[in-house]
Amino acid sequence: MTGPKLYVAGNWKMNGLQADLKEIEAVKAGVTPSGPDVAIFPPATLLHQAASLAKGSPVEIGAQDCHAQAKGAFTGDLSASILKDAGATAVIVGHSERRSGHGETSRDVHAKASAALKAGLKAVICIGETKGERLAGLAPDVCARQVAASLPAESTPDTVIVAYEPVWAIGTGLSPTIPDITAIHEVVRSELKKHFPGSAGQHWRVLYGGSVTAANAASIFESNEVDGVLVGGASLSAPSFLAIIAAAKAASERRASVK
Ligand code: PGA
Repeated sequence: MTGPKLYVAGNWKMNGLQADLKEIEAVKAGVTPSGPDVAIFPPATLLHQAASLAKGSPVEIGAQDCHAQAKGAFTGDLSASILKDAGATAVIVGHSERRSGHGETSRDVHAKASAALKAGLKAVICIGETKGERLAGLAPDVCARQVAASLPAESTPDTVIVAYEPVWAIGTGLSPTIPDITAIHEVVRSELKKHFPGSAGQHWRVLYGGSVTAANAASIFESNEVDGVLVGGASLSAPSFLAIIAAAKAASERRASVK
């Protein structure tokens, strides 16, 4: 297979108590190094223990957000280096729940991603249109603009992963058609080519996220444009997350066999 491995990421959002660490143990027990790259983004309170549990396995542990500043008087916030110190190797930035619930603009997302990269964390940068924008035919433009404005100049295919998450598909049980996902991923990829000409020949990972489940993962991976998935609700229990990981593994084997 050419290009990097598929990436299956679980975003636990504001879920996860001590008792839920057993799900990470179960995921660790169910993955193999020959499978896709796997990441779990628990709440910050569990990062340290999650990272200790996942140590030595293909499961990476990440945080769900970071502050743009390296340190200082920002009560309640966490810098990228604090997250790294707790054991995170990646961080999600620009999730639509941050963009809409906390008024974060692409400019803020750019600053946070930059802070993450400076601290040595991988950045999973989320973009995606609202329902109204999709209905108005604006999805490709909105996504292109968010890519252009959210990714810092120092981004590389090794350090940044873009997640296309249509806002209307998150937590709703709705998802775009496979051709619609493919079309937006192509837009994202052409923006990346335009803004990062130095990365020509390297493969950027573009994930899909929004109501991914064990039941629909295989069909989403039918699009060869999908380099992985960002999973919310269905990542909270190990069996359903492992089923999505298995779908990713089957998809990479299928893709490798048709090359
Ligand atoms: P969902 O969330 O899978 O529950 O729709 C996805 C996300 O917000 O990352």
